[in-house]
Amino acid sequence: MSEHPTEQGQRHSGTEGNLQVNQAATVLIAGGTGLIGQRLKQLFEKKGYTVLVLTRRPKANHEVFWDPSNGKIDLEKLAAVQCIINLCGENIGAARWTASRKAALIKSRVEPAVFLASILDKLPALNYYIGASGVNCYAAEPGVVYHESAPYGPDFLSTVVQAWEKAHQEILKQVKGSVLRIAMVLTPQGGALAAMKRPIAMGIGSAIGSGEQMSPWIHIDDLCELMIFSFEKQLEGTYNALAANNSNSDLTKTIAQLLHKPLWAPKVPAFALKLLLGERAFLVLTNLKASNQKLIQTGFSFKYPDLKQALKPLLTKS
Ligand SMILES: NC(=O)c1ccc[n+]([C@@H]2O[C@H](COP(=O)([O-])OP(=O)(O)OC[C@H]3O[C@@H](n4cnc5c(N)ncnc54)[C@H](OP(=O)(O)O)[C@@H]3O)[C@@H](O)[C@H]2O)c1
Repeated sequence: MSEHPTEQGQRHSGTEGNLQVNQAATVLIAGGTGLIGQRLKQLFEKKGYTVLVLTRRPKANHEVFWDPSNGKIDLEKLAAVQCIINLCGENIGAARWTASRKAALIKSRVEPAVFLASILDKLPALNYYIGASGVNCYAAEPGVVYHESAPYGPDFLSTVVQAWEKAHQEILKQVKGSVLRIAMVLTPQGGALAAMKRPIAMGIGSAIGSGEQMSPWIHIDDLCELMIFSFEKQLEGTYNALAANNSNSDLTKTIAQLLHKPLWAPKVPAFALKLLLGERAFLVLTNLKASNQKLIQTGFSFKYPDLKQALKPLLTKS
């Protein structure tokens, strides 16, 4: 596939706007050892792609060493890479948001993207980039449905996303691509669903806060298919990546129903959660409704657009 610099200095595929992606193409998942990356690798491979993973601790043949903090990367293994999907970032929900943890959450996202921007000219086959981001980046006013054009919110997560996307945009000055503002990812193991499921499975689950707060979500397979679709269709721009928005009560009730567990406990009051989790309680108490209209207009269709339909295979598999 031929490549040529555009007026902006971007490297595009030779078939502008109508890409014939080579299904034997090599894709590189930076941060691909995690929850999303592992599934994304499987689904890319199922379609015939070759997948490499950038990791600070390579263990397998397809894993390539890098150390973005110290500017190190095993470049010679990356000569065939046509697409990079950048999923790097320390887990947002894993620990209390102390000042040092907040700094680490930002650094672990910005630093890998800034480093990638500095080595793109050494990847001769590269023609597409996908930057992961988060949908929790809007002011989250009740009753508002947030589209991608809305400004960033004032809270910590919005600050993370703003810095993260600024770094992605530096890459997108050099190569075509998209930024996906990912909603809560529903997966068979780990992530938010495991945390919600645990107390319900023990028979002590309940909704949180008022239970009316809305959460955007996406099934992991839809998210991975969306990343593949973005590459194959060469989408450009920023997209909210969610299937739907549901309330915390909806989520709790649907999980309990699918697990055949009763919900008898009173709702967990917001103040108790704030005491327990500190500022991190924002993750479960925030009331955000986002739009996926821009995504739908690209022609992408969800396999799991409905909450119960999405949760059923996940809760019966795990
Ligand atoms: N899961 C969700 O519900 C969700 C929702 C919205 C957005 N996202 C975003 O999507 C991305 C992937 O999510 P995930 O759930 O797959 O995350 P994950 O399981 O925590 O994996 C993140 C990956 O990032 C890499 N990483 C962490 N710190 C790094 C650093 N300082 N430098 C370089 N690499 C680093 C790790 O790779 P190595 O340790 O192997 O180097 C790890 O494999 C994250 O950025 C996350 O914030 C996820």
